[in-house]
Amino acid sequence: MRKYIALAIGLLSVASWHLAAQIIHVSTPNTSLVFQVQNNKVFQSYYGKHLDATTGIETMGNVFREAYPAFGDGGDKEVALIVTHADGTMATDLVYATHVQGMNGNIQSTTISLKDTKLPFYVDLHFNAYQSEGIIEQWVTIRHSEKGKVKLSQYASSTIGFMADAYYLTHFYGAWAREMHMTEEPLTRGIKSVETKRGIRTTEFENPSFFLGLNQPASEDNGEVVLGALAWPGNFRINFEVDNIEICQMTAGINPYTSDYNLKSGELFTTPRMILAYSDAGKNGASILMHRWARKYNLRDGDKIRPVVLNSWEGAYFDFDAKKLKSMMDGAAEMGVEMFVLDDGWFGNKYPRNNDKAGLGDWQVNKTKLPAGISDLINYAESKGMKFGIWLEPEMVNPASELAEKHPDWIIQRKNNREQLLQRNQLVLDLSNPKVQDFVFGALDDLIKQNPHIAYIKWDANRHIQNFGSTYLPADEQSHLWIDYAKGLESVFARFAQKYPDVILQDCSSGGGRVEYGSLKYAHEFWASDDTDPFERLFIQWGTNHVYPAIATAAHVTKSPNHQTGRETPLKFRFDVAMSGRMGIEMRPDDFTPKELIFAKQAVATYKKIRPVIEFGDLYRIQSPYDADGFASLNYVSADKSQAVWFVYSHEYHQRQEQNLFRVKGLIPNANYRITELNMDSPKASIPCNGKVLSGSLLMNRGIEMEIRKPMDSGVFLLTKVE
Ligand code: GLA
Repeated sequence: MRKYIALAIGLLSVASWHLAAQIIHVSTPNTSLVFQVQNNKVFQSYYGKHLDATTGIETMGNVFREAYPAFGDGGDKEVALIVTHADGTMATDLVYATHVQGMNGNIQSTTISLKDTKLPFYVDLHFNAYQSEGIIEQWVTIRHSEKGKVKLSQYASSTIGFMADAYYLTHFYGAWAREMHMTEEPLTRGIKSVETKRGIRTTEFENPSFFLGLNQPASEDNGEVVLGALAWPGNFRINFEVDNIEICQMTAGINPYTSDYNLKSGELFTTPRMILAYSDAGKNGASILMHRWARKYNLRDGDKIRPVVLNSWEGAYFDFDAKKLKSMMDGAAEMGVEMFVLDDGWFGNKYPRNNDKAGLGDWQVNKTKLPAGISDLINYAESKGMKFGIWLEPEMVNPASELAEKHPDWIIQRKNNREQLLQRNQLVLDLSNPKVQDFVFGALDDLIKQNPHIAYIKWDANRHIQNFGSTYLPADEQSHLWIDYAKGLESVFARFAQKYPDVILQDCSSGGGRVEYGSLKYAHEFWASDDTDPFERLFIQWGTNHVYPAIATAAHVTKSPNHQTGRETPLKFRFDVAMSGRMGIEMRPDDFTPKELIFAKQAVATYKKIRPVIEFGDLYRIQSPYDADGFASLNYVSADKSQAVWFVYSHEYHQRQEQNLFRVKGLIPNANYRITELNMDSPKASIPCNGKVLSGSLLMNRGIEMEIRKPMDSGVFLLTKVE
C-alpha cells in the first residue's frame, strides 16, 4: 500500500508543504476523519481508526482528494459538485474560508466553510460526530449571491477516500418480496454505482447503504470495515471509484440523474445526510454502532417498546366488514395482541376500495363496509384492551377516484397527451406542489382529528414515478421533480411527526421499498417485505439488520402455506423468525387450530418478556443463512449483558451424525448464565443443558450441541446472568 503514497507524492504538487497546515480533526473515540488546509485548499488527510494525535500529518502530502472537489477546479476525477454559474460559466474552485468546531453534549459538530475563488458561491461541509455511538454524519449546504440562478448538476452529500490494499463492497439488492439480499464483490479499477432512479419505492432494488471491507473481505468480527447509509427517500447514488493511485473514493448523495437544480440567489440547498460507521471489529461491530445510533437519533421513540400488532392484510385483504374485523379483534385480544391494524380497503364511497382498482385518494370511510365508521372499530379494539391503527397510501391516487376527478393537475404526469402508465392501477400525487403536501397531511390529520384514538399509521406507497412531469413546476424547473418530491415527502413526514408525536408510524412501500434513514427519522418502523415466508425472511431480515435495527423491523407471522411462496412451515418456525424483529401477526385468528391458538398465545407472552433484549439490545450475527451449511443463528445482548436471547434456525436437513454445535457471542466471559429454551412446541428441549448454568466463556468458545436438524426447525433460548 505504501507504494501508492509514494506514487501520489511523486504526482502531486508539494509546493505548499513548508506552510503551516491547518488540521481539522473530526473524531469519535473509535474513528477519525482528518482534513488539512494547504495552499488554501481543503484536502482529506485521513479516514479510519481513531488517531490520538495528528502530529506530522502535514508532511504526508495530499494523497487524498479535496474535501469537496468541484468541476473546474483542476482535478480530473469524479467530483462532488458541478455548477453552471449565473453567468453561464462552469468552473468552480472552492477554497477554505473558515471552520468552526465545538462539542454539544455527545456530538462534536464541525462546519468547514468553502467559497469560490471568484464568484459569490459558498459550500459548507457539516459533520456531526456522535461520541458514544462512534458515528460520523455528513451533509452539505450550498448557497450563492450571484446575479441570477445557478444550476446545480451534481451535489454530493459526502465524498471520502479510503486507503487499503484491496476493497470489498457489500451492497443490498433485491426486488419486490425479495428485499435486502446481500452480495460482496472485490472492487477493481473504475466506478461501481449503487443507485436508484425510481423516485419512490427507492429501496426495493438497491438500498442506499453498504459495507466496505478494507484489505480483506468483510468478516463479521475482524478487520477494518466501513458501513455507510444515506438518509434520503428519493433517488440516490453511491459511487465507489478505485482510481489510478488505488484509493477508493466513495461519493454519495442524491442521484443527479435528470435532476439539475436551479438555485436562486440567497436560497439554501441542503443535501441529505450520509451516515458512516468505521469498525476494526468487522461488520458486526459496525452494525452495532449504527443500530445504537439509529435508536437514539434516527428513529422515533427508539427507547420505547413496540406493541405486538395484528395487521388485517393477509387475513382479510379487501374482503371484510365490521363483523369480520371484530371477530379478528376478538382472537387478537385473546392472543395478547396490543395493536389491531386495519390495512387497505376501508375507504372510498363513489369509488369503493374493494380491490386495487379504485378509491385511492378518497380517504373517507366506506359506508357499506363500515357503516358505524372507524370510531366503532376503535371503541371495540379498546374494549378488548387493544389500540387501533390504520393503513393509508396518501401519496397515491387511482384514476377511478373522486380525487382524480377533482384535481387531475395534482397528478404526476407526462405532458403532450402522452399515455399515463399505471402500476397497480394507480398514479402518483405531485408532492412538489405545496397544495398537494397539504392534502396529504390533511388526509392523515382529518382522519386522526375525527378519530383521535388512532394510535398507529401504516403509510404505504405502491408504485414509483414513471410518468415524469409536474403541472406545478415551471417549464425550466421540471428537473426539480425528483428532489422536490422527496423534500415534499420529508416535510409532510415532519409535520405529521410533530403534530402526532404519540402516533406510531410504519413506513411501507410495496413491502421494503422505503427502508432508509431519511424516512425512518420520522417513523418508528418499516415493513421489511411483503414476503412473509419465514424461510425467505431469514435472508431478508439478515440483510436488513446489517444496517437497520430489529426494533424497526416489522416481521409478521402469517398463514401456512405462505401466500407469496406457497411454502409450508411450522407455526413455531414462523414465530421464531418473527420474534427476532418487531413481532406481529398477519392472519385471521380463526385460522389457528385450538392447539395452535394456545401456542400463539404463549408465543406472544414469551415475546413480550424478551422484547426489551431484542428491541434495545446489541445484535450479534453468528451463522449466516447465506452460508452453505443450512443454518442461521443470531443473538441479542442487553446493554448490561445480563440477558441474551439467542435464535437458531435450520433451513436444510442435517443428518443425525452431524455435529450441531452452536456458539453465542457478546456475553461476559467470566459471568455465568442460565440457559432456558423458550417457545417450545414439544416437551423435549433442543439442548441437553436446558435450565443449567454455564459460563459465558463456555457458551462463547465451546458452544453447545442442539437437536435442530430438520428443515424449518428452530430454537429460541434465553440466557440470564446468575450471581
Ligand atoms: C402493499 C403493502 C402490503 C399491503 C398492501 C395493501 O403491498 O406492502 O403490506 O398493505 O399494499 O394494498
